[in-house]
Amino acid sequence: MNRQVPDIRTELPGPKARALIERDRAVVSTSYTRDYPMVIARGEGAVVEDVDGNSFLDCTAGIAVASTGHSHPDVVAAIVQQAKQFLHMSGTDFYYEAQVRLGEVLSAVMPMPGPHRSFFGNSGTEANEAALKLAKYHTKRQGVIAFFGSFHGRTMGSLSLTASKVAQRRGFGPFVPGTFHAPYADCYRCPVGRTPESCAAECVDFIEQQLFVHLVAPEEVAAVMVEPIQGEGGYLVPPDVFLHRLRELTRAHGILLIVDEVQSGMGRTGKMFAVEHAGVEPDIVTMAKGIASGLPLGVATARADVMSWPPGTHASTFGGNPVACAASLATLALLRDGLIRNAEVVGAHLLAGVRALMERHALIGDVRGRGLMVGIELVRDRTTKERATTERDRLVRECFSRGLLVLRAGRNAVRLSPPLVLTTAQADTAIEILDAALTAVSNVR
Ligand SMILES: Cc1ncc(COP(=O)(O)O)c(C=O)c1O
Repeated sequence: MNRQVPDIRTELPGPKARALIERDRAVVSTSYTRDYPMVIARGEGAVVEDVDGNSFLDCTAGIAVASTGHSHPDVVAAIVQQAKQFLHMSGTDFYYEAQVRLGEVLSAVMPMPGPHRSFFGNSGTEANEAALKLAKYHTKRQGVIAFFGSFHGRTMGSLSLTASKVAQRRGFGPFVPGTFHAPYADCYRCPVGRTPESCAAECVDFIEQQLFVHLVAPEEVAAVMVEPIQGEGGYLVPPDVFLHRLRELTRAHGILLIVDEVQSGMGRTGKMFAVEHAGVEPDIVTMAKGIASGLPLGVATARADVMSWPPGTHASTFGGNPVACAASLATLALLRDGLIRNAEVVGAHLLAGVRALMERHALIGDVRGRGLMVGIELVRDRTTKERATTERDRLVRECFSRGLLVLRAGRNAVRLSPPLVLTTAQADTAIEILDAALTAVSNVR
């Protein structure tokens, strides 16, 4: 795909895209959320081409999954090699090297001291279900605390903790008993009215002063599950002190700290795990999305003394599929050999460029992020911070029509989560398109 990108040659959606979307409408679940009509035909690096021959700069990576870029040759080669040997043997009943090797490689990069053990599933929600079950089993306690705005998945355990959008929960209750929520450190809209300068993560006090006083005894709480950067909730970056205080509080009460790195992990923030920026050592880390560049894989890795449950307690037929493990091993090598560093460098460039747009566009209330995890919150008024939700939706579509793929996050934010191979020149292209799209949105207000 040696061509100028983006390159939009047809109306959007083009005729082939329209035809496929029509077929999709008839047979695919109506529960999916498609922000705009993008029908991919192929991808390479940070560029995707649609079925009508239009090419786009991808700042979504398929929701932060294609970490090494679309179809990285090393990952494809690893997949092909493993596929030729065997496709499946169920790592819960038999042994194979790819799963063991992946456990070893993950153990070497964990943000807490080893030894560690890993449980392998197929998705983020399965990684979180495994972590929840493990925490309950290990502590013999039932309660779990999560945060408002969090997204942990859509199966019943993780959905009970998810508190992002009511549409994700409406109609599915009652939820798993013993799940509680506390305010997240949303510094742009501080839940306790602090400024970043005066912040001592007082939002964490809610757990001690409200939950532990009125709703649940700390000795009945198995775990606190937290995203070190809230993803679906709006790319919210908490101050380090928030995670420090959570660690102190959980340690004081014998509660396990689970960090959900499904979106923020695997090098995206310029470190392997976002929690490393705060220097906090969790008990369990959950991963998925970028861990295998697009093949389905979810992993919960814990301190070995925590993950010591007996045979039969938890397993998965497909989890840790050898092809997914091979893709993950190739992915982790690429991350180590330069992509984490690229995420740090190009991410800083992207963040600075998007921040500079604030001078020209009053619609931007806040720009935040770490590495190639950048959030842009839109407001109608910077003083009242009124949420510019319809403008945000329009911005996402204006970007699409100009050949830039971005996604919504939270109620009024846009997220940029490109493949970690993004170049500085591509980051500049993204900033230029955002600039033009913001102008278009402001002009029609
Ligand atoms: C932080 C976080 N946890 C868990 C999940 C669930 O992952 P999956 O959709 O693979 O089940 C997501 C998905 O967006 C996520 O962002």
